[in-house]
Amino acid sequence: MNGKNYYSRRFFLKTSGALAALAAIPATVKSFYMDAKRLIIPPRQKQPLIVKVNKQTHKLDVDTRTTLLDLLREDLHLTGTKKGCDHGQCGACTVHVNGERVLSCLTLAATLPGKEVTTIEGLADGDQLHPMQAAFLECDGFQCGYCTPGQIMSAVACVKEGHTKSVAEIKEFMSGNLCRCGAYNGIVASIQKVAK
Ligand code: FES
Ligand code: FES
Repeated sequence: MNGKNYYSRRFFLKTSGALAALAAIPATVKSFYMDAKRLIIPPRQKQPLIVKVNKQTHKLDVDTRTTLLDLLREDLHLTGTKKGCDHGQCGACTVHVNGERVLSCLTLAATLPGKEVTTIEGLADGDQLHPMQAAFLECDGFQCGYCTPGQIMSAVACVKEGHTKSVAEIKEFMSGNLCRCGAYNGIVASIQKVAK
């Protein structure tokens, strides 16, 4: 018997044995596992949500598990807020809720009624850039720009919180916002400029 035939015959025997075993599982056992799966993974549930974003009120029906990040990007089409890691590690998704910075990928949309959300799209005053946006332009606070909306939202909060007394303090309080282009010097300079 050559190796090839031996392996294909053994494969056939194994596969047909497994299929026969699967078919032999009683229907009651199968339905037990289906019921268990339904209990562990509940079906999607929608809930009505009224949320204020950039001074506009929106009425929506959203999945109860929707994050603020997905609500902004998928439901409201405000794609300025970026999805980086989606796990609270990079800061790309930073927005303000009631004036304080939050990671929108870790914030459930269901917690938002009665609160005000501000995104990078709501920072400028019409055509007038927010001072932090202007400072990022002047101080080369970005390269590819992917992290920039989150950096700017965090930077605005950093100044408001008063964590700008030294370069070390700025770096510490901006450490949740990663920049893979390494534009950190320009980001710190932008914050110092606005904090003056
Ligand atoms: S996308 Fe939210 S922290 Fe990275
Ligand atoms: S500017 Fe490219 S990741 Fe920060």
